[in-house]
Amino acid sequence: MIQIAVLGFGTVGSGVVELIDKNQDAIRARFPEGVHVKYILDIREFPGSPYADRVVHDMNVILEDPEVSIVCETMGGKEPAHTFSRSALERGKSVCTSNKELVAAFGPELIRTAREHNCSYLFEASVGGGIPVIRPLLSALTQEKITSILGILNGTTNYIMTRMEDEGMDFDEVLKIAQEKGYAERNPEADVEGHDACRKIAILSSLVAGKTVRYEDIPCEGISKITTEDMKYARSMNMAVRLLGMNRQEEDGSLYVRTAPFLVPEEHPLHSVSGVFNAVFIHGNMVDNLMFYGRGAGKLPTASAVVADVMDCARNIGRNIPIYWSDEVKTLADPSTESRQFFVRVDISEKELARTLFKGAQEVRAEGMEGEFAFVTEEQTEAEFDRKTRSLATLKNRIRLLDLGK
Ligand code: HSE
Repeated sequence: MIQIAVLGFGTVGSGVVELIDKNQDAIRARFPEGVHVKYILDIREFPGSPYADRVVHDMNVILEDPEVSIVCETMGGKEPAHTFSRSALERGKSVCTSNKELVAAFGPELIRTAREHNCSYLFEASVGGGIPVIRPLLSALTQEKITSILGILNGTTNYIMTRMEDEGMDFDEVLKIAQEKGYAERNPEADVEGHDACRKIAILSSLVAGKTVRYEDIPCEGISKITTEDMKYARSMNMAVRLLGMNRQEEDGSLYVRTAPFLVPEEHPLHSVSGVFNAVFIHGNMVDNLMFYGRGAGKLPTASAVVADVMDCARNIGRNIPIYWSDEVKTLADPSTESRQFFVRVDISEKELARTLFKGAQEVRAEGMEGEFAFVTEEQTEAEFDRKTRSLATLKNRIRLLDLGK
């Protein structure tokens, strides 16, 4: 029997324990030895829980128990998760995590530590919740040149966007429901301001590049400025507003990575991804388009991805599962040189000025929207667009358009 420890008995950690209990027969059918949760590390007590007797408060109990060969780090945050993960790996215990903050910040270091100690550091649950996307990138797609990744990578913001869109619900009201359902981060700013999606696209980009794409180098915008008025226009154009993590490799080798809300046309498969669902749309130069879709957040879907990693580690005790992601920093292309179309809203008083600045712009109308001028620009660089909008005193909002051809 493989003995494991779970660090953090929160939403995901309790899901891991529940899943291993409920699906023990499915696990044993594929791995007859079975997997058993020996310890749960948490600062809290859980009186009345069927797992109360497994709760410990001292990480050393786990580190010093030679029977424990796999640790699930479901605590979140950088510390003490970083120290605990490194200490476990240094003792040859594999670590499986859902902690995207830690993976984005310390992925290459922990991968190297695992390699040096003949164990593994796996993080399928860190991107896309229950969707297997890291494993395909590391195995089924290693022969491909990945030319673009477009991902709806944050369940909370996608849930907020779609309920605002479909039901006209208020931002704060929907955020509260997402928190109650266990989708949101402890500090929802990480979701709403795009940091969580940004870390996830940084992880995917690093895996594709084999080098470190630093999330601090990625331009990042969240959804907090998106209003129900924007959504009315989106609907009139048959588009949906989606927070996307985007990675685009140009033929000359320049790599653009960005996190921002985009208007997604109805012809694109990401348009229909709603609620807590995530999707990652990948283009490989040989395989063409692929889409991975599933629940991007929540207790059991995320736990499922953690336990998938546990199963891989259990089959490879004493061996390292290789992951190619080095410390070398990948330089990103200057984001201001990226070209696209933009949707813009200004006060009606600036209609003429806007038309002069943005020659060839197409006006957009939406029901009930009076007193303003909304339009879609022609394709131009981010720098050019920013320079022109600086002359507009009444800019209400601007949203990038997803180009179907890119
Ligand atoms: N807060 C994250 C989300 C959890 O909403 O997607 C899963 O990473």
